[in-house]
Amino acid sequence: MKKTNIAIIGAGNLGMSIIKGLLASPLKEKINIVASKRKLPEKPSVENSHLFFTRDNIYAVKASDVVIFSVQPDQFPKVVGEVKPFLKDKVLISTITGLTLKSLQQALGEESRIVRAMPNTAIAVSRSMTCLSYNGDEESIKMAQTIFNTLGKTLIIEDVLMQAATVLGASGIAFWMRLIRATTQGGIQLGFDAGEAKAIAVQTCLGAASILANNQSAHPESEIDKVTTPKGCTIRGLNEMEYRGLSSALIRGLTASYEMISQLKENMD
Ligand SMILES: NC(=O)c1ccc[n+]([C@@H]2O[C@H](COP(=O)([O-])OP(=O)(O)OC[C@H]3O[C@@H](n4cnc5c(N)ncnc54)[C@H](OP(=O)(O)O)[C@@H]3O)[C@@H](O)[C@H]2O)c1
Repeated sequence: MKKTNIAIIGAGNLGMSIIKGLLASPLKEKINIVASKRKLPEKPSVENSHLFFTRDNIYAVKASDVVIFSVQPDQFPKVVGEVKPFLKDKVLISTITGLTLKSLQQALGEESRIVRAMPNTAIAVSRSMTCLSYNGDEESIKMAQTIFNTLGKTLIIEDVLMQAATVLGASGIAFWMRLIRATTQGGIQLGFDAGEAKAIAVQTCLGAASILANNQSAHPESEIDKVTTPKGCTIRGLNEMEYRGLSSALIRGLTASYEMISQLKENMD
C-alpha cells in the first residue's frame, strides 16, 4: 500500500507536537514525515525511521502529498516564495493563526486545495480540539480529519468562526489552566498540600469533562443539579461564586480576547 508523505514546514512547538502525536498513533505505519526548520538540532528530540528532518523546504514539499504549514505568520511569505511552484495537486494545511482561507488562497494560488486548522497545545498529549475550515475539496478535508483526529477531536466550522475558535479552543487552554490553578489554591486553603490539591482538581476537571464528552445528551446544568442538594453546601458555594461573577467573568474574558483578536486581524488585512 502506498504511504502518504507529509511535509511539516516549520517543526517548532506545534509542528513537533503533530509529529510526536502522529508517530505515536496507528497512522505511523501509513505515513512518512519530512519536517523542515531553519536550525536543525544536532540531535533531534524525536528519532524514527518514518521521520526525516531537513532545512530544505523545497525538498520537503516535493517529497510530499500533504503539506502542513506551521510557521509563524511573519515567516509565511518567505516560505511561500520558496515552495509555491511545487504545490500543485497537494493537500495544503495551514495552522497559522490569523491567515484566513481567502488570504491563504491568494498566497498559495487560486487552484490550491486548502484546509485551515486551529489546534491547541493539548495536541502534545493527543487531546487537542482542532477546528477545521476548508475551501470545498472533500479529499483535503478528509485527509485533515484523519490527521487531526489521531491528535484529539476535530470540528469543521465556517472560516469566519476561526477567530472565535482561536479564543474558545486555543486560548481556552489558558483559561482552563487558570480555573484548575484557582481550585488548587482553594484546596490548599482547605488543608491539602499543593500536590494533593492539584491531583484532586485535575482529576475532578477531567471527570466533569468526561461526563459531558461521553454522553452527547448530558448538559452542564443537569449535571450540576445531580450534585446540588437543596440547602446543601454545593449550591451554597456555587451561588457565592456566581454572586462574585464567575460566569460573567468567563464570558467577558472570552469576548475581550475576541475583540482583541478581531482588532489584530483588522490591522493585518
Ligand atoms: N503552538 C500551538 O499550540 C499553536 C496552536 C494553534 C496555532 N498555532 C500557530 O501555528 C504556527 C506555529 O506555532 P508554533 O508555536 O509551533 O511556533 P514556533 O515554535 O515558533 O515554530 C515555528 C517554526 O517554524 C520554523 N521556521 C521559521 N522560518 C522557517 C522557514 N523559512 N523554513 C522552515 N521553517 C521555518 C522555525 O524554525 P527554527 O526553530 O529553526 O527557527 C520554528 O521551528 C503559528 O502560526 C501559530 O500561531 C500554534
